[in-house]
Amino acid sequence: MLRGNLSVQPKPAPALTEAERHLRTIVAKAPVVFFALDEEGRFTLSEGRALQKLGLLPGQVVGQSVFHLYSNYPNLIRDVRRALAGEEFSCLTELADVGLCFETHWAPIRTKDGKPAGTIGVAVDISERSKDERARDQAETLYQSLVEQLSAVTYIAELGLEGNWRFVSPQIKKLLGYSPSEWLADSTSWIRHVHPDDHEVVKLAEEATLSGNSFRAEYRIFRRDGSMLWVDDSGSLVRGPDGQQLLHGVLLDITDQKQMQSRLEQTERMEAVGQLASGIAHDFNNLLTIIKGYSSLLLERNSEGRDGHAAKEIRQAADRAASLTHQLLAFSRKQTLQPRVFDLNTVVRGLEAMLRRLLTENVELAIETAPELGFVKADPTQMEQVLINLVVNARDAMPKGGRLTITTSGHAGRKELSESETIFASPYVALCVSDTGIGMDAATRARIFEPFFTTKEVGKGTGLGLATVYGIIKQSNGNIEVESEPGKGSMFRISLPRIEHEPAPSKKPMTVETPRHGTGTILLAEDEPLLRELGETILKQAGYKVLTAGSSDSLRTLIAEHPGEVDLLLTDVVMPNMSGPELVRIGRKRWPKIRVLFMSGYADDELQDLDPDAGFIQKPFTPAELTAKIAEVLAGRD
Ligand SMILES: Nc1ncnc2c1ncn2[C@@H]1O[C@H](COP(=O)(O)OP(=O)(O)OP(=O)(O)O)[C@@H](O)[C@H]1O
Ligand SMILES: [Mg+2]
Repeated sequence: MLRGNLSVQPKPAPALTEAERHLRTIVAKAPVVFFALDEEGRFTLSEGRALQKLGLLPGQVVGQSVFHLYSNYPNLIRDVRRALAGEEFSCLTELADVGLCFETHWAPIRTKDGKPAGTIGVAVDISERSKDERARDQAETLYQSLVEQLSAVTYIAELGLEGNWRFVSPQIKKLLGYSPSEWLADSTSWIRHVHPDDHEVVKLAEEATLSGNSFRAEYRIFRRDGSMLWVDDSGSLVRGPDGQQLLHGVLLDITDQKQMQSRLEQTERMEAVGQLASGIAHDFNNLLTIIKGYSSLLLERNSEGRDGHAAKEIRQAADRAASLTHQLLAFSRKQTLQPRVFDLNTVVRGLEAMLRRLLTENVELAIETAPELGFVKADPTQMEQVLINLVVNARDAMPKGGRLTITTSGHAGRKELSESETIFASPYVALCVSDTGIGMDAATRARIFEPFFTTKEVGKGTGLGLATVYGIIKQSNGNIEVESEPGKGSMFRISLPRIEHEPAPSKKPMTVETPRHGTGTILLAEDEPLLRELGETILKQAGYKVLTAGSSDSLRTLIAEHPGEVDLLLTDVVMPNMSGPELVRIGRKRWPKIRVLFMSGYADDELQDLDPDAGFIQKPFTPAELTAKIAEVLAGRD
């Protein structure tokens, strides 16, 4: 741009009239440039205060060619040509390199006979205004990209469950399946997309907003296809151009977050209930062992008459209590499992006939087992229990009949299967039990694995079936999921890690004749006095010599000081202040050939590290079970 440094000096001005002087003052003071060009494009006039911006004095360029002075502004040159051709128009003249912008009005000058004789122009400096406009444009683009690129929906709406929405960003299409125009057209009934149970939440949030807080609500909303989402809706009131208070808000999809949270809560709740259950079960097992033990002893002495009958009743009640306790232990994953590697198909097929008997005639049973399933590692008896519990539930859910399908399938470990499934990264085997029954609502679904949760009439269900299933599957490192909707049936899906190698040939359990009279010395370690006493009674009655210890201290003393041999150590897995392996170590040091039999109410982790040569008996047991087990362990004596 040419600024100031011009080669030609201004021509001397001719004498002026009063009116001309007056006009010239105005022209000189106006923040514009007045100029005129002759038909060749030479300046004949250049005046106005805005010349300063160009670094020019009034009249400085007169006589010079615009084509020469402004040759590096092609747009300006183009406009000059238009004007010289006789056109009258307005346009923007941008001198970008010096940051100036003019709004220029061109008007032709004509000779008396109407031929173009040049042009006059007025250029108004709008540089400041255009800077503001550009900044506004930029801000608008930025906002628009923010509003449209964010993964959230932004909106402007009137308050109220029937409030009209004034604006919604295009992401509404992705979130709910409606285009902005579809949504806005029907926006006064927006609340009908919200889950009915959550209307209250929205209402409360709006009330809070009216009393000056910002709006915040989490609620469930239905998409166009009927599926449900959790959204976080937050915003604040802004006064609109018409003076009305409008909610400017953001909707965020928080479904994944919610699902994770509820899974976590469910797991935590199950853990807490599990701990409680296992604590109760452990104490009960001790008590039941005593009840069963003494009632058995009573029965042995006198099985006839009223006393005998009473003893029998006590023992039967104890048996029932023991089986409940057992289920509780299963749920809390503390039962002693005997895992084996086996083919799940074999278990399913093996149970088929029995399952058919469980079902009523109007229930059709279909079993589809996948070939080459691979193996799983679990306790097969427990897996039978799992299947039976699921099938009985399915039957109960189809009182009017229906279809029950059991399938097995093998899967490669893939993480990307489906969000709702917790999938093993390595290969796994799935067992599905599905029915066409009454199904469950979300509230029921959330609680089915809790012990004692049942929707069945009193006397029809204890609510321990699925708790047991849950415990067994979790203890076998598996996973259980359920899909169900009211009226649409249910599907329970169990996944267990797949084991590739062939099962080892199973060892036949040693069958041992229980000797009429036992021989040898047994060291009985048990901290519960009643149990210790009972054990002593049973063992002595069976013919053994018995030494007892009620604490780890007395046990140490006994081991150190007892003069004779001891053949068997019968002990609780955990004695106060002493672990099982520790105990075995001390015992073996004194009597290298001693046999060991552990008894326990539940499978503690330590049990896995116990001596492989040691025997194990689960509480509660009967005297006969105990003596048989002792005989079996002692039979291994060299
Ligand atoms: N297949 C199913 N269809 C519909 N509801 C089911 C199904 N399976 C379980 N339920 C629901 O889950 C609840 C808990 O089941 P669970 O097996 O733990 O206990 P239960 O069957 O009620 O009693 P129990 O099994 O101890 O006799 C049931 O009461 C029922 O409401
Ligand atoms: Mg059940």
